[in-house]
Amino acid sequence: MGKLVRFSVSIEKELLVSFDRLINERGYQNRSEAIRDAIRRQLIHGEWEAGEEVAGVITLLYDHHRPGLSEALTGLQHHAPAQVISTTHIHLDGSNCLEFIAVKGEAREIEILADRLTSLKGVKHGELTATSTGEKLA
Ligand code: NI
Repeated sequence: MGKLVRFSVSIEKELLVSFDRLINERGYQNRSEAIRDAIRRQLIHGEWEAGEEVAGVITLLYDHHRPGLSEALTGLQHHAPAQVISTTHIHLDGSNCLEFIAVKGEAREIEILADRLTSLKGVKHGELTATSTGEKLA
């Protein structure tokens, strides 16, 4: 962690009351940690918006009985412009598979891969979790 600096913020009282209620519900010990997280979230969002090199996890839930689906999912990952770092596959029950695909690359490439995987017939739910160190915009 870098050197800590203090700064003061002017904010509407009602907004601060709402913020305090929210961070209390989420279990933050103090405002500083909650504000640091909020800033990091904005920086990461900014990196994705700017098309920087970022990372993410694509979560998929699908029916492996769907003909050709497993092959299509594998094929898309092999030929993805974004780099697939790791895949974890869980046989959830008799027909459903849950898969976590960790990826890194340019934001747009990751989004395209996530969209292609999620939109395949037989994929019941797909979600991209966007992350990054947030350091490039710091
Ligand atoms: Ni499975």
